[in-house]
Amino acid sequence: MNVLGLEGTAWNLSAALVDEDDVVVEENAIYVPARGGIHPREAAQHHAEHMLPVVKAVLDMAEDEDLSIDGVAFSQGPGLGPCLRTVATAARALSLRYGVPLMGVNHCVAHIEVGKWKTGARDPVILYVSGGNSQVLALRRGRYRIFGETLDISVGNALDKFARRAGLPHPGGPKIEEMAREADEYVPLPYVVKGMDFSFTGLSTAAAEALRKHDLTDVCSSLQETAFAMLVEVTERAMAHAEKNEVLLAGGVGANRRLQEMLDIMCDERGARFYVPERRFMGDNGSMIAYTGLLMQKSGVEISLAESKVRPGYRTDEVEVVWV
Ligand code: ATP
Ligand code: FE2
Repeated sequence: MNVLGLEGTAWNLSAALVDEDDVVVEENAIYVPARGGIHPREAAQHHAEHMLPVVKAVLDMAEDEDLSIDGVAFSQGPGLGPCLRTVATAARALSLRYGVPLMGVNHCVAHIEVGKWKTGARDPVILYVSGGNSQVLALRRGRYRIFGETLDISVGNALDKFARRAGLPHPGGPKIEEMAREADEYVPLPYVVKGMDFSFTGLSTAAAEALRKHDLTDVCSSLQETAFAMLVEVTERAMAHAEKNEVLLAGGVGANRRLQEMLDIMCDERGARFYVPERRFMGDNGSMIAYTGLLMQKSGVEISLAESKVRPGYRTDEVEVVWV
């Protein structure tokens, strides 16, 4: 069985075809803002312009290999409204064209499912950290329950905002990681964990202000150390609460080596297993949507055209995970 998946909630327009075992093909078109952060309508325009070549590359490959298209999946939310609508329109058309089921996938759930698929994690606590989301989750009674999450902005957004104020290019995360390697002094910054939740706005602002007195590399490193320590603390407590002994890292910020190292140490100390997917499956990708769509279709979870409206505020714990 082969499912075609479309992702385009924010910066990456991505189409992929997967079967039960692996990714058959994936094609991407990346939107890079001219300046500043992501502009929703510009990003949607980008996706509309690139939709045809991106989808066609995947369909051509399927045709060459004589592969059937048995279902169409798209990220229904959460994400930027204009981007979601562009992708949903294409997905509806493809589902009609091939006469196959349509699956509306929750983008956050897709980050989790592709991670489990690609690492073999079975029942982990998930640390999902990206530009739009920061959550600690675990499966309980058929849903990915949110044990802890950000009270304001996501950790990726905090890194990107700081980077902009420091004059670094977007996205800031990778650049900050690079600069942090040259650091030699620790700058104390606000560490905010409230119950099981965390907050990053104050930290991002304080880091930007610290630039007046401290070296950029030192601030980059201290920003990472502080933010990641908060995430690791909550992840560890969720493991105790939920009684799980696996951790899965998901989302674009998960590409960060220092975050991986800190989680690895924590898991090692608890005798738990730590799973990190390959980098291409951490940030937004069409394969994660296609694969989650395949799981849904196999469990009979499909939607009608009337139900295919986009859901910009779609929460992870709204999804009934009937396929596990
Ligand atoms: P979502 O819709 O799931 O919130 P997203 O649109 O933010 O996803 P992702 O690719 O999951 O997209 O995450 C992008 C974020 O990851 C950006 O904030 C970027 O700065 C951050 N990021 C990417 N690489 C690194 C890295 N090496 N270190 C830290 N942050 C990183
Ligand atoms: Fe994402």
